Amino acid sequence: MPLSHTRSHLLQQKAETIFPGGVNSPVRAFRSVGGEPPFLTHAEGAWLFDEDGNRYLDLFGSWGPMILGHAFPPVVDAIREAAGRSASFGASTASEAALATLVQRCFPSVEKLRFVSSGTEACMSAVRLARGFTGRDFIVKFEGCYHGHSDAMLVKAGSGVATLGIPGSAGVPAETVMHTLALPFNDLDTVRAAFAARPDQIACVILEPVVGNAGTIPPAPGYLEGLREITRKHGALLILDEVMTGFRVSLGGAQQLYNIRPDLTTLGKIIGGGLPCGAFGGRADIMNCLAPLGPVYQAGTLSGNPLAMAAGIATLEHLIANQQTIYPGLDSTTSQIAEGVAKLAREAGVTLTTNQVGSMFTWFFTSSPVTDFASASTSDTAVFGRFHRAMLEAGVWLPPSQFEAAFVSTAHGREDVDFLLSAARKALPH
Ligand SMILES: Cc1ncc(COP(=O)(O)O)c(C=O)c1O
Repeated sequence: MPLSHTRSHLLQQKAETIFPGGVNSPVRAFRSVGGEPPFLTHAEGAWLFDEDGNRYLDLFGSWGPMILGHAFPPVVDAIREAAGRSASFGASTASEAALATLVQRCFPSVEKLRFVSSGTEACMSAVRLARGFTGRDFIVKFEGCYHGHSDAMLVKAGSGVATLGIPGSAGVPAETVMHTLALPFNDLDTVRAAFAARPDQIACVILEPVVGNAGTIPPAPGYLEGLREITRKHGALLILDEVMTGFRVSLGGAQQLYNIRPDLTTLGKIIGGGLPCGAFGGRADIMNCLAPLGPVYQAGTLSGNPLAMAAGIATLEHLIANQQTIYPGLDSTTSQIAEGVAKLAREAGVTLTTNQVGSMFTWFFTSSPVTDFASASTSDTAVFGRFHRAMLEAGVWLPPSQFEAAFVSTAHGREDVDFLLSAARKALPH
C-alpha cells in the first residue's frame, strides 16, 4: 500500500502560504526530486517519524550534524540541563572554553578560535579575516563548493544553488563578487595561473577539502598538498571549510585524514550537536587581528550560546572517548550501504558512480568518474529524482538533491543496512 501523506500535504499547503516555497531553506522543498516533503514530528537514532505515522531511515542526518543519531541521550540531557540555567546570557561562560578545548584537541591547527551561530557566518568571517590580515581583496573558491550564503561566496556555488540551477544569486551586486575567483576543483594548474595573473592580490584560497555540496568528491592525490604549497609561496592563506567534514571524515576532519595544516579552519554542523553553532579558528597571529584585539570586526548576539555549547560538548566528548570504534564503524557501515547499492545497480544494469569518504557518500547516475563539478553535472538528475521518490516510498530518506552528500550515523546498524538494501532493490530503475 502506498504511504499516506495526507497530514503532511495539508501542512505543506499551509506552509506555502506563509514561507516562500513552504520552507525555511530551499532544498528542503524537494523541488529538484519532485513530490512533497513529509513533515516530521520526532526522530530517534537512525529513524525519522512523520505527521502521518510513517517512518524513514535517515540518510541525510539534518545535512550532517547528527553523527550520533537523533535524540542521543547524553546530548538531550546536556541541553536540558543547560536550558534550566538559562538559554542565553550574552556574556562569557566556562562552557565556551570547555568546547573550544575539545575542538583544539581534534584540530591542532586551531590555536585560537571564535564561535558563531552557523557555517555561513564562520566562512564569511574567516574570509573577512583573511582579507584583513593580508590586506588583499581577491579570494579563490572552487566550482560546486558551498561556503554558506554570504554575498561573496555565491559564485558557482554548490548545494541549493547547484540544485536549483541558479548561476549565482540575484541581489548580489557585481561589485561584491568581482574579487571572487571560482576555479575548477582538483585542478592545480588553474590555481597557479590565477596567482600568476594576480601577484600579491589574492588573500586566500577557501575550499571544502572533500566536497560535499556538489555530491561527495574527494581531493585527488596531491591536490591539497599542492594548494598548501601554492598559497604558502604567494603569502595567501589556506582556509579549509570543514563545516561538513569536521569530526565527520575523521575526528580531526579532512586535515587529519590528508595531513594538511591550513592557516584557518571553519567548522559547523557536528560542532553544535544539532544546535545552531559554527566556529572559525587557526593561527593565533591571524586570529589576533579580530576585534577587540585587532581591526577586523566580527560579533554575534548568540555566539557561544550555552545550549549549543552544551550539545557540542556532549557530542565531542562522546566522539573523542570512542574514536577508536566510532570512525572505523562508520566507515564500514557506510561502505556496506554505498557499495551494496552500487552492486545492486550493476546487477540491474543501472549506471552508477559511487564516491565515498568516511561516512559521507553520493551515488551519481553517470558512467564517468566524478572529480569536479563539471563531471558531477553529467549525472542524470531525472533518474536521481525518481530513485529518491521510490526510496522515500520504501522508507528511506536520502538527501533530496543529487548535489548533496548522504550521511551515516553511529545509530545505523546492520538491520538498517539490510532495510536500505532491500528498499534499493525495489527502487532502482529496472
Ligand atoms: C561546507 C559548508 N560550508 C558552509 C555551510 C553553511 O553552513 P550553514 O548552513 O550552517 O550556514 C555548509 C552548509 O551546508 C557547508 O556544507
